[in-house]
Amino acid sequence: MISRDVISLAFGQQGSPYRLDPNTIRMKNGQIEGTILKTTSEKEKIKLPLVVTFLDSGSTRIQVDEEKRQKGDIELRHDSKVRKERYNEAAGWSLTGAGLQPQKLSKFDKGAKSTTVTWGSSNQFSVIITYAPFGIELFANDKKQVVLNERGFFNFEHWRPKVEKPVTEEGKDEDKKVEPLVPQEDESTWWEETFGGNTDTKPRGPESISMDISFPGFSHVYGLPEHAGPLSLKQTRGGESNYDQPYRFFNADVFEYELDNPMTLYGAIPFMQAHNKDFTVGVFWLNAAETWVDIVKTQQGTTMGLGGHTDTLTHWFSESGVMDIFVMLTQSPKELSQKYAELTGYTAMPQMFAIAYHQCRWNYVSDEDVKDVDRKFDKHNIPYDVIWLDLEYTDDKQYFVWDQDNFPDPIGMEKQLDEHERKLVIIIDPHIKNKAGYQIVEELKSKDLAVKNKDGNFFEGWCWPGSSHWIDCFNPAAREWWKSLFPYNKMKGVQSNVWIWNDMNEPSVFNGPEVSMPRDNVHYGNWEHRDVHNLNGMTFHNATHHALVSRAKGESVRPFVLTRSFFAGSQRLGAMWTGDNQASWPHLAASIPMVLNQGVAGFPFAGADVGGFFGNPSKELQTRWYQAGAFYPFFRAHAHIDTRRREPYLLGEPYTEIMAQAVRLRYSLLPSWYTAFREAATEGVPIVRAQYYVHPHDEAGFDIDDQFYIGSTGLLVKPVVTEGGESVDIYLADDETYFDYSTYKTYSGAGKRHSVTAPLDKIPLLMQGGNIFARKDRPRRSSGLMKFDPYTLVVVLGRDGRADGELYIDDGETYDFEHGGYIHRNFTFGNGSLKSQDVSSSVSTKDTKKKAVYLKTMDNVLVERIIIVNAPKSLEGKSEVKVTGQSSKSGGTASMSYHVAKDGNAAWAVIRNPAVKIGADWSIDLGVNTDAKGEL
Ligand code: NOJ
Repeated sequence: MISRDVISLAFGQQGSPYRLDPNTIRMKNGQIEGTILKTTSEKEKIKLPLVVTFLDSGSTRIQVDEEKRQKGDIELRHDSKVRKERYNEAAGWSLTGAGLQPQKLSKFDKGAKSTTVTWGSSNQFSVIITYAPFGIELFANDKKQVVLNERGFFNFEHWRPKVEKPVTEEGKDEDKKVEPLVPQEDESTWWEETFGGNTDTKPRGPESISMDISFPGFSHVYGLPEHAGPLSLKQTRGGESNYDQPYRFFNADVFEYELDNPMTLYGAIPFMQAHNKDFTVGVFWLNAAETWVDIVKTQQGTTMGLGGHTDTLTHWFSESGVMDIFVMLTQSPKELSQKYAELTGYTAMPQMFAIAYHQCRWNYVSDEDVKDVDRKFDKHNIPYDVIWLDLEYTDDKQYFVWDQDNFPDPIGMEKQLDEHERKLVIIIDPHIKNKAGYQIVEELKSKDLAVKNKDGNFFEGWCWPGSSHWIDCFNPAAREWWKSLFPYNKMKGVQSNVWIWNDMNEPSVFNGPEVSMPRDNVHYGNWEHRDVHNLNGMTFHNATHHALVSRAKGESVRPFVLTRSFFAGSQRLGAMWTGDNQASWPHLAASIPMVLNQGVAGFPFAGADVGGFFGNPSKELQTRWYQAGAFYPFFRAHAHIDTRRREPYLLGEPYTEIMAQAVRLRYSLLPSWYTAFREAATEGVPIVRAQYYVHPHDEAGFDIDDQFYIGSTGLLVKPVVTEGGESVDIYLADDETYFDYSTYKTYSGAGKRHSVTAPLDKIPLLMQGGNIFARKDRPRRSSGLMKFDPYTLVVVLGRDGRADGELYIDDGETYDFEHGGYIHRNFTFGNGSLKSQDVSSSVSTKDTKKKAVYLKTMDNVLVERIIIVNAPKSLEGKSEVKVTGQSSKSGGTASMSYHVAKDGNAAWAVIRNPAVKIGADWSIDLGVNTDAKGEL
């Protein structure tokens, strides 16, 4: 629990007790340093060192610490040996080190009441630091965007010794009691706290921190995953349809989590975007302890709209640690994504298989079962890439040891999967069974690599295996040891098509407080668990990620790790899923804003258990869930051990075929999904993008979170998430025409909702005019088998008769793409011709060879079809087009057919076998000017 003293509340009536001492303000190496003084009594002034840094990226970093704790000048209670400082290593885990260099300032003006700083390429950013009370205002283009401590909630629980109060007998000396002048502080949770039978000893006493952060003129804030609520965050101080408690971050294994609720879930990214039609600003609260965020919105100005606006006021508080806040001022959500990614890192480019379809359940019961499921997918022509093994593959929940009875031949099983380039993912959790003779736990203990309890002994708790110990991945030696367990010659029954699932890493401790570890447990470096709790999950999947990278000398393939718990920066390491949802329509609906929000907060490789984890979905629900899941960045079906088997081929017709079609659609669009992942990996942008993100100036779309775009393809989907749903209303923000994905039916009209019919076999999916995207249309068993398949390009002409789009390709497996081994094309259509141009960046001389080798492997990969949607009438009757840059044979031409518009469906044309290479420059001339202007 977070305690908050009443000093600041008491002072709140007379003014804040926090004042920046002007005599201490100095400019050093592009940073402002100073000391904030907290006045607690006439005699006592607590020193809080402040550093404000103006970063390369245009962001401002505000760090506040506490001098006494910094210097170790405090006494710990209970003879504790933990660190005396406030935890200051979250940055080391979360930040990559990029974008942290101070920027050259163009103005530093230290005045009597405040200091003003200006910087930025066109001096567009400025900050005013006010001394008394301490506060910071941040401006972009002369407009105030963000204010810190506007409401005086800045608070730092300074260290103080526990003063034992004399115990008075109830009722005695009643008449001598004097009412205090200022409200007395409620110390009941400062020094000790008992919860669920467990006592937290709090050796450092109270140490919480808080700050209020206001966004004037912003009525929408997004981000703060992981919570199961709407994308546009709700107010949290009560009132109709608001929450009555703050958004909470305390990573936890929450049983049957509730929807539309600010309760904590498995992961934490304390990053918020505030957005209005002119600006997007971000706040990143870099703290790994328990954190809460309150949100209120206030209407300012007149009610008739004249000069009136809404402000969003937020209040952030954490249980411990230093204060480390990044404020980013940008012009658009896209720019903000880039800035945030510069700090915390970009999505790791996954292998192609990882973005294909995954088949999981708790559990496939034997290697024969796995092989049987594998064959049945083939029999029913349903592609899939990965099959998963949950806990039951282990011998008595001992990770790294196979259950010999049910999985006597894991390698044989893996070999069968490999025949169709399929993979296996097995679960490995951070709790290690405490059983004599189990080599892993013996090593964990003898090497002293487990998390300790407050008394310095190995912490022992209860999880799937029963009594367990937990690997402490904060410890570099533990990570090295973890690495040593994965090499093929060490890890039994595992070959190179096997990857890892990390679950329960919040960490989940069945008999612990709030199903986790006691906060006074101790990690490497003598840090208390309370300080690092929200980082814990990330340190584990980080260790697994690195263990997989190094499992064989000379092997250079990208690892795959799925994690349940995460923190800011986890995007560099793998994928996440939204944990134990339920087989219900509301859970299906809730998964969409949850996945969108992951993208807003820089960790877009996300999905929910398709079909729902708990319970048995109806056939209709499961079918609709496959149609939605085919549009999650991470697409995996999963189910609880007590549920009925539900592999898609078991449902019978028409369900099986409809689900198969959804999976095939995912496979056909894999080239476009992969391109979207590349954008995330290089620009930090979401893979699936919310309405406000794509149309940042259209206020009507700011709270829409049930439809979304896939990358930059212009594909707009709105999955059906209601029982018996036969149609959906899709909101269109822009003036472009949109076309139904399969019938080319047209929809246009900006700022309106359009009804799209959606019987069970139909996914409401539209294509926005003006885009070109790539597909592979030959159905195969797995993505690996599609590697060298030819492409189909879909050219969706916009109102001006033009379109463009990109395609990124690499080997889908290795790191060669980092050395030029990739193809990146830009396609443009205009003036009657379609062109393919190289947009890959130039490579060093050293890498030229790698690039050439890769291009050679792709030499025979061609475009087999070009579909032009919204094809102009002038193409009618034309049967041949001119091809320049063709690979061969067809004599510089290709055939074309034209299909006239009818019944509200747009006209379209198909160019067959133009025989152009996917990796080369070429152009195709249609022989008429197709620009809309040219037409008129
Ligand atoms: C909890 C996970 O959330 C779930 O997906 C998994 O099946 C069980 N643990 C068993 O490992």
